Amino acid sequence: MINDKLPKIWYGGDYNPEQWGPDAWQEDERMFKLAGIDVATVNVFAWALNQPSEDTYDFAQLDATIDRLYKSGVHVCLATSTGAHPAWMAHRHPDVLRVDAQGRKRKFGGRHNSCPSSPTYRKYSAKLAGKLAEHYKDHPALLIWHVSNEYGGYCYCDNCAAGFRVWLKERYKTLDELNRVWNTRFWGHTFYDWEEIVVPSELSEEWNGNRTNFQGISLDYRRFQSQALLDCYKLEYEEIKKHTPNIPITTNLMGLYPELDYFEWAKHLDIVSWDNYPSLDTPVSLTAMTHDLMRGLKGGDPFMLMEQTPSQQNWQPYNSLKRPGVMRLWSYQAVARGADTVLFFQLRRSIGACEKYHGAVIEHVGHEHTRVFREVAELGQELQQLGDKLLDARTEAKIGIVYDWENRWAIELSSGPSVALNYANEVHKYYDALFQMNVESDMISVEENFDKYEVVIAPVMYMVKPGFAKKVEKFVESGGTFLTTFFSGIVNENDLVTTGGYPGELRKVLGIWAEEIDALLPGRSNQLVMKQAWGELSGQYQCELLCDLIHAEGAEVLAEYGSDFYKGMPGVTVNSFGKGRAYYLASSPEATFLQGFLKNLCEEKGIQPLLETPAGVEVARRVKNDQAFLFLLNHNEAAAEVEVGSGKKDALTNLEVSGTVTVPGRGVVILQGSK
Ligand code: GLA
Ligand code: ZN
Repeated sequence: MINDKLPKIWYGGDYNPEQWGPDAWQEDERMFKLAGIDVATVNVFAWALNQPSEDTYDFAQLDATIDRLYKSGVHVCLATSTGAHPAWMAHRHPDVLRVDAQGRKRKFGGRHNSCPSSPTYRKYSAKLAGKLAEHYKDHPALLIWHVSNEYGGYCYCDNCAAGFRVWLKERYKTLDELNRVWNTRFWGHTFYDWEEIVVPSELSEEWNGNRTNFQGISLDYRRFQSQALLDCYKLEYEEIKKHTPNIPITTNLMGLYPELDYFEWAKHLDIVSWDNYPSLDTPVSLTAMTHDLMRGLKGGDPFMLMEQTPSQQNWQPYNSLKRPGVMRLWSYQAVARGADTVLFFQLRRSIGACEKYHGAVIEHVGHEHTRVFREVAELGQELQQLGDKLLDARTEAKIGIVYDWENRWAIELSSGPSVALNYANEVHKYYDALFQMNVESDMISVEENFDKYEVVIAPVMYMVKPGFAKKVEKFVESGGTFLTTFFSGIVNENDLVTTGGYPGELRKVLGIWAEEIDALLPGRSNQLVMKQAWGELSGQYQCELLCDLIHAEGAEVLAEYGSDFYKGMPGVTVNSFGKGRAYYLASSPEATFLQGFLKNLCEEKGIQPLLETPAGVEVARRVKNDQAFLFLLNHNEAAAEVEVGSGKKDALTNLEVSGTVTVPGRGVVILQGSK
């Protein structure tokens, strides 16, 4: 349980009463009660109020807010407010301002704008966190700390350059080693003095965000910036822990956000929390995958849904309303996949600046007679009924899908073979194929223990880090099924090619050699032709993007390319290795193929779908002690019928359920039964 002071799914969200006067506060209290809101995330962007000047701290307003909330039954998720520095700080200490990739020193403005290497930012952010923790350590309203907000963005200033050089010295010790791993003899880059090293910005090696001359340098800069921001978080974390060792600490992450290595970050969070902002046309399975990834960051521990909009956003090109029922549906989707909180951005809609058209529980009209408020209040009631039933419930998947941020950086920086190669999309194809069959999977890191899985899928495992290949070999040897794809095993952790034939260190376990890699033009495809029928797979399937030209070296060929000069070369292989099997997909196949393929793998391993459902009805399961909670989430507009068997009850109504259940359009049914 995140904090046993509030043993239920927390309900509420970001609340900025400092933008309002007392009249609004009274109304807020009244409406929070009506909506069943019991948690407010406060103080997110209030550094300028908390610290009006260099030596003054003033928590009077925050005291009043927290006391008032607590009296009316609302606990707080207390932010440290360091996501945006005060204007006076930027004015007096320009080192807090970032330099952008074009080399421009920023002026005061915006948010998430502090240089992670700034001595001023580090000193004052940690100090403020400590002061807040000291001040609120005994406040009964305090449930959890929320450090800063949505860390992100890179800085290219001189302090960061100096920090980068220190980081490099620690990592590589000598310039010889640095020159080796960066392959600096290319384009005559040999460094003879650490001071010669500059950051890879658009003034030096990079352009267009992820194009670079030197992958090794750019990759290390991403590692360094992710680490530098994490260090800022850790400074605050340590200050807070001195005063409140037993209150959990988090910072809100952003799902598939590219710039930070969240697996590394998660090691330093007491609980993962994240902000979920899909748009109307985001594939449901992509949101599901992102929830699963956030759950996977800490090995399957429940996480917090820290933010979602009750109705619409303001920052997308087209800010559609969530259709009636969708807010509830997507809230339960989060819970079904491991969230123990449902929190919104925000509780009251602001009247000025760029978020005034962002949805909120309390709309500009100011009363509760709105569609959005009614939907929020209905869900609030349900979450009260659910009590602590679901808290800490876990997922028990037999399939792990590997996701790795450093691999993603390396692929995106790779300069070839194809600009169309998008790591997250490729991973999603595999996730989606299982999702459509209602087969559970976990999103896991390269460091995860594979032994708890029957099948491990590592799409486009381009970068193979030390120890990874051995781990795969052991897993397969002892009976596991491993699956990887084209453009895998190519480089090491420094983006240096593993010579001696692709897929490098994975070659042995896969029993193949990839001699060349072809990039297909947009709209072009090749075919994977099955050598013989296998389960539902027979005949031929389209494939696109990249085609590895491979030779089987012990692996059995399941499908061959159907056209072009490499017609007849292997396209899909399987290698028996010890007691297990290692599959290779040499190209990116159409969805029907992937579904048939993964279905076969599941059958080989005796992995069952959770349930059979009509298209558009998502199923997810959480297990607690001997009880299983099965979530039926109908993403269709129309009602759907689902056959659920017997021995279950509706977790909301406690009524017994058996046979066919009708799930209303955009509706949710939660079934509880023994495991
Ligand atoms: C982010 C931020 C919030 C708010 C929302 C708007 O998630 O953390 O402060 O700006 O976006 O969608
Ligand atoms: Zn900087």
